[in-house]
Amino acid sequence: MEKFKVKDASLAAKGHLQIEWASKHMPVLNQIKERFNKEKPLKGLTLGACLHVTKETAVLVDAFTAGGAKVALCGSNPLSTQDDVAAALAEKGVNVFAWREQTTEEYYWCVERAIDQKPVITLDDGADLVGTIHGKRTEALSNIKGGTEETTTGVLRLRSMEKIRALKYAIIAVNDAYTKYLFDNRYGTGQSTIDGILRATNTLLAGKNFVVCGYGWCARGIAMRAQGMGANVTVTEVNPLRALEAAMNGFHVMPIIEAARIGDIFVTSTGDISVIRKEHMQEMKDGAILANSGHFNVEISIKDLEELAASKRSIRPNLEEYKLNDGRRLYLLAEGRLVNLAAAEGHPSEVMDMSFANQALCTEYLAKNEKMPPKVHQVPKEIDETVARLKLNAMKIEMDELTEEQKKYLATWEMGTI
Ligand SMILES: NC(=O)c1ccc[n+]([C@@H]2O[C@H](COP(=O)([O-])OP(=O)(O)OC[C@H]3O[C@@H](n4cnc5c(N)ncnc54)[C@H](O)[C@@H]3O)[C@@H](O)[C@H]2O)c1
Repeated sequence: MEKFKVKDASLAAKGHLQIEWASKHMPVLNQIKERFNKEKPLKGLTLGACLHVTKETAVLVDAFTAGGAKVALCGSNPLSTQDDVAAALAEKGVNVFAWREQTTEEYYWCVERAIDQKPVITLDDGADLVGTIHGKRTEALSNIKGGTEETTTGVLRLRSMEKIRALKYAIIAVNDAYTKYLFDNRYGTGQSTIDGILRATNTLLAGKNFVVCGYGWCARGIAMRAQGMGANVTVTEVNPLRALEAAMNGFHVMPIIEAARIGDIFVTSTGDISVIRKEHMQEMKDGAILANSGHFNVEISIKDLEELAASKRSIRPNLEEYKLNDGRRLYLLAEGRLVNLAAAEGHPSEVMDMSFANQALCTEYLAKNEKMPPKVHQVPKEIDETVARLKLNAMKIEMDELTEEQKKYLATWEMGTI
């Protein structure tokens, strides 16, 4: 059995430095790692993880190893692996199967190599690992006690499986913890998406018409940060509550077909398919830039773009120019894959500190408790609150506590107007 496969093992030294830098900004995960090191709650367990192979994921893997686990890791996107980090992990003895710029076949080959290691607990980001186990590799199911899911799209897919009773083991929806989506999806995606667009294009945001498709947790962050840099932000939505919220937060709201005519930069983050498609591309201005920050590369229809294009060329890393028959040029970033991970480095470590603290504590929860029913479960409230408290402590922020009078008052109904 292959122990690992990475692009270039000689990049390990560079990777160790990256991991060290991330770790310095992940105090919550480090506290958990210290406890794991003493208590060994994961002793003898094999974890199968399908996560973006970034420096922050390496810090999570270190915490698991400190807790006594063996980790098999594959990437959760063909374009998001940091090759130096993958090399460093391989040198540490992790069964890592990941490199940047994979074909779809190579991507799933890596997922299967993680399954070969016979995981007892799975960690997923987008549910491709769970999907493969439930489809092609059902023999792995008998060994598995439970799993976790990192992102909105993965949770949606798992809930669809649960609905038709196809889900065969318990998954904790890490994405749905407050200490995950309120910070990771909003501030993490907000900042790193802008970072990815700027690294790919070095374009000026001030004064540009910036169109954000969706107004969920990720898109809120992207809209907020683009506005902060001086862009005129337009939001497109299909949910009336979110459209209303966007309008009251000061954004223009309109259908994508109208936004298509005015936008200079478009970013999708909906978890949906074909949000930007042929009829919209036909309306776009010459020079429009298209990027996606939702989980899969289906939000911008690449097929439609290819069909409309007379020619295509690569301008610089992560920036493809599509020249249309009428001479207009549209620019696609990072092949329509997660722009923040493909063209930048993903979320800042400080944010992943909380997301991965949830991953670490939920994995411990699955290991310590009886096998749970095969459903999508919420992150236990105690875990969410623990992560928030640890983060506040790390940030040296203190808060108030309820007095006895206040506790009593909040628990009664008798007292009204006085
Ligand atoms: N880039 C990253 O690092 C990162 C991080 C976290 C999550 N994600 C992914 O980003 C996506 C969005 O996540 P979220 O947490 O914001 O989800 P969310 O459910 O909070 O929001 C999605 C929004 O998109 C809207 N929407 C759906 N179809 C639409 C359409 N056709 N046009 C306009 N709006 C539409 C929905 O109404 C909803 O308001 C998911 O795929 C998620 O997995 C990416």
